Amino acid sequence: MRLARGHLLLGINDEALLAGAREVEAALRQALVEHGLTDEFEVIETGDTGFTGQGVTLVVHPDRVAYGNLGVADVQEIVTEHLLKGRPVERLVLHLPDPADKGSERIVLKNCGLIDPDSLEEAIAVGAYGAMAKIVEEHIPPAAVIDLVKESGLRGRGGAGFPTGLKWSFTAKGEQVYIICNADEGEPGTFKDRLILEGDPHRLIEGMMIAGYAVGASKGYIYIRGEYTLSIERMQRAIDSAREAGLLGQGILESEFAFDLEIKKGAGAYVCGEETSLIESIEGKRGFPRLKPPYPGAVGLWDKPTVVNNVETLANVPPIILHGPEWFRSFGTASCPGTKVYTILGHVNKPGLAEAEMGTTLKHIIDEYGGGIEDDKKFKGALIGGAAGAFVCPDCLDKPMDFDGLQELAAVLGSGAVLVFNEDASIVEMLDGILSFFKHESCGQCAPCRGGTRALKTIIGRIREGKGQPGDLDQMVEIAGTMQAMSLCPLGQSAILPITSALRHFKNEFEAAIA
Ligand SMILES: Cc1cc2nc3c(=O)[nH]c(=O)nc-3n(C[C@H](O)[C@H](O)[C@H](O)COP(=O)(O)O)c2cc1C
Repeated sequence: MRLARGHLLLGINDEALLAGAREVEAALRQALVEHGLTDEFEVIETGDTGFTGQGVTLVVHPDRVAYGNLGVADVQEIVTEHLLKGRPVERLVLHLPDPADKGSERIVLKNCGLIDPDSLEEAIAVGAYGAMAKIVEEHIPPAAVIDLVKESGLRGRGGAGFPTGLKWSFTAKGEQVYIICNADEGEPGTFKDRLILEGDPHRLIEGMMIAGYAVGASKGYIYIRGEYTLSIERMQRAIDSAREAGLLGQGILESEFAFDLEIKKGAGAYVCGEETSLIESIEGKRGFPRLKPPYPGAVGLWDKPTVVNNVETLANVPPIILHGPEWFRSFGTASCPGTKVYTILGHVNKPGLAEAEMGTTLKHIIDEYGGGIEDDKKFKGALIGGAAGAFVCPDCLDKPMDFDGLQELAAVLGSGAVLVFNEDASIVEMLDGILSFFKHESCGQCAPCRGGTRALKTIIGRIREGKGQPGDLDQMVEIAGTMQAMSLCPLGQSAILPITSALRHFKNEFEAAIA
């Protein structure tokens, strides 16, 4: 890796490409040549820089100044003002670091936006495969790896927060065991896994490799939603380069351990994020959920023991092995150690991604990472955890957010999607959108979900149109309650949460719409 004084990190994701990132890149490279700055600054194509809806973004390191909505015409000014004179171009600035801020500690996204995701060399330079090397060098047996993950307190980041080490310890032994990484990321408002896949693919490979070593799996699948074309390309290139370097395949790092990976593309069904539907989908069948038990740990892919973990969960594993469980426990809360990657959307000044310690308050997430409420309006509430999540109101702003803290508020952390809305938002319209989504995404296999999602959509639709009837709200709760009790999988079971939470905090709006 060539050493340069500064790094110019250019976000290259689908949004940036559509906004002309390649043209900006060419102009930037040309300007560096013109001003004799090629030894001083290196342009690095990175994945998502963490800013959403800001077109072409550029982060200047080590200054940590972020620019957005860049066009070719802005490049000369950035080079002459910022790079040559050290004066950030204010009109283009998205983020200026606070001098007092020493930089919040990132675990999962540590390398995202700092390395070229297509370079194995750069990944290794920032520590990739160091945790696996430690396991091999120190002859740490699989059971001890599971114990380390158990002691760390890591809980699954796919939504349910199930303890990862415990899941691994429940996995049956067998001649063929599989690891599946769930990168379906279908929850509305969630795009955190994409950032990891696009920004630090070797981190995920190493996390899966360690999981494979721990449970005795020699093969892993990464199930990525088909729309994530850039994630799929980058992940494939990373797998190819790791295999070429002997980091995948037989005798990894000169040990006895063999492990390889394959990518499977999802076709965009929400239900296929549910682990057993996902398994059916990989097997080439229609993505219908299976009855549980048996759980995938006993009977999974092709009826073999299988571990299914989320991208963010697996991305936490290498640093846990490298720095130890105590280090990991120094972040977050006692029952939910570590950090959480949030996607912050809605009526905020700076929508995007943030990695914050578990236990961070909603207020802090909105103000510090989301840049506060847009147009100085009043905060009305937030939907946390996506469509299968819950509405919260201003009373919840100062409550610590983690899996358990939110449960106390009858809410869920889920995938970490935070949709913020101001005083102008209509909760009736929002719930209508959510229930349309459920109706559309119900796989239709079981009657309570198939019929229930339709009935819920019909009722909320007529309330929205001003044709609601007395008793509609009670009927919605009753239907969702039946779905919770009778549906085959958590898709149908979770429709109740947005409904009851919306009615708990904003019932007057529904009553007004009916009246
Ligand atoms: C309808 C539905 C959709 C889901 N979508 C996802 C998803 O996109 N990504 C994910 O990691 N987990 C998703 N899950 C949760 C998975 O079933 C599973 O619990 C998770 O992948 C386990 O990983 P973890 O233990 O690392 O959290 C979904 C669950 C349901 C019911």
